[in-house]
Parts: sequence; C-alpha cells; structure tokens
Amino acid sequence: MLNKTLQQSYTLLSPLYDSVVALPTRIARQRSLAQLGDVQGMKILLCGIGTGLDIPYLPKGANYTGIDFTYAMLKRAKQPITTQDVNLHQGNVMQLPYPDHCFDVVIMHLILAVVPDSQKALDEATRVLAPNGKILILDKFLKPKQRAFVRRLLSPLISKIATRTDVVFEDLSHPTLTVVSNTAALANGWFRQILMKK
Ligand SMILES: C[S@@+](CC[C@H](N)C(=O)[O-])C[C@H]1O[C@@H](n2cnc3c(N)ncnc32)[C@H](O)[C@@H]1O
Repeated sequence: MLNKTLQQSYTLLSPLYDSVVALPTRIARQRSLAQLGDVQGMKILLCGIGTGLDIPYLPKGANYTGIDFTYAMLKRAKQPITTQDVNLHQGNVMQLPYPDHCFDVVIMHLILAVVPDSQKALDEATRVLAPNGKILILDKFLKPKQRAFVRRLLSPLISKIATRTDVVFEDLSHPTLTVVSNTAALANGWFRQILMKK
C-alpha cells in the first residue's frame, strides 16, 4: 500500500523541509537519540530518514542504514554535511527490504504517524529488530479517547500531503514489544518520545 500522493508531496516539500522542521524538533531529536547510549558495533535502522535531520546527532561506532521512499528527501540526506556515514536506501517502511532480526535498534522519528498503516510499519520494524532490540519513536499521537476535533477532522486531508493527525499510539501494539517509556516531547505532549523494547 504505497501512497504515491504522499511521495509526490514530500518531493515538493523537500526543499523547504529542513527550514520548517529542523529547529522546532532539534531538542526533542537530541533527547530521543541520547537514549542510544553506547552503540559500538550495533546495526541501526532509521525508518523514513527523510533529509537526515537525525544524522548530526547519531553517536559514532554503529553501522547506520536509512530508508525512505522519497528520492528527493534522500538526496538531501546525502549532502556532505553529515557527521556519520549512513547507508541510504529507497524503499517502503511498511515492507522493509531487510531480513528478520538484523538490526539492534530501529529509529522511527516522524514516520509512524505519517504512513497510512502505522501498525504495519511497527510490525515491520519489529520483524527486522533483533531480540532485546529497541525502537525509538518520536511522533505526534492523540491520547486514547482524546477528542481533538480539529485534528481528527483534518487528518483525512493532510494525511495525503504530509502526516496523519489522528493516530493514537495506544492503538498500536505487538506481542513481542514492551513500552519502556512514553513521555511528552513537544507541543504540550502532542509529540511524544517513546521507547519500546523487544
Ligand atoms: C515527516 S518526514 C520525517 C523525516 C525524518 N524522519 C525526520 O525526523 O525529519 C516523513 C518521511 O517519511 C517518508 N515516508 C512516508 N511514507 C513512507 C513509506 N511508506 N516508506 C518510506 N518512507 C516514507 C517521507 O518521504 C518523508 O521523508
């Protein structure tokens, strides 16, 4: 279920993306990635890596792979401003082109609420995650039963061009995953920083 309209939209948004998103998300990104700790020798996947805004905050010592379905976003992630080498692949996070259990950590920053099927993206991240592996999530979620009338009303429209705004994190689950922490990150808790363990 690849959303071509979303891909076209991110192609158009790509030149503006960093100027709009980098500054407001910088501290939340740094906090989320600080949970990586010592990554020596680890294999780490960044799902929906986009223009690579996470790359400057990735600790050294791991083998990083980034995947995104929008070539124009990935092209920006390749620019030589990077502090870390990341292998970049074009592909779909709801159907990852990687074998089972091959990553120690999966980073899902601003992707789980973007894809049309968040559960499928979480299932795929879990599939490629090794036992005892971690998933780092930073995204916008509604709380269970939160009314958020405007966000629910707008979601069918803006989900086609940028992101869904009606995803409830607690509706997502996987039998092998445990939520270790779930804390407010930005915008009065609309954006949350979540750590899951397999
Ligand atoms: C809001 S941006 C987030 C980019 C980056 N993770 C960040 O934190 O800035 C969402 C990204 O997800 C990508 N994307 C959306 N749906 C995807 C899918 N099904 N598979 C792979 N990438 C996808 C878009 O191309 C875009 O680069």
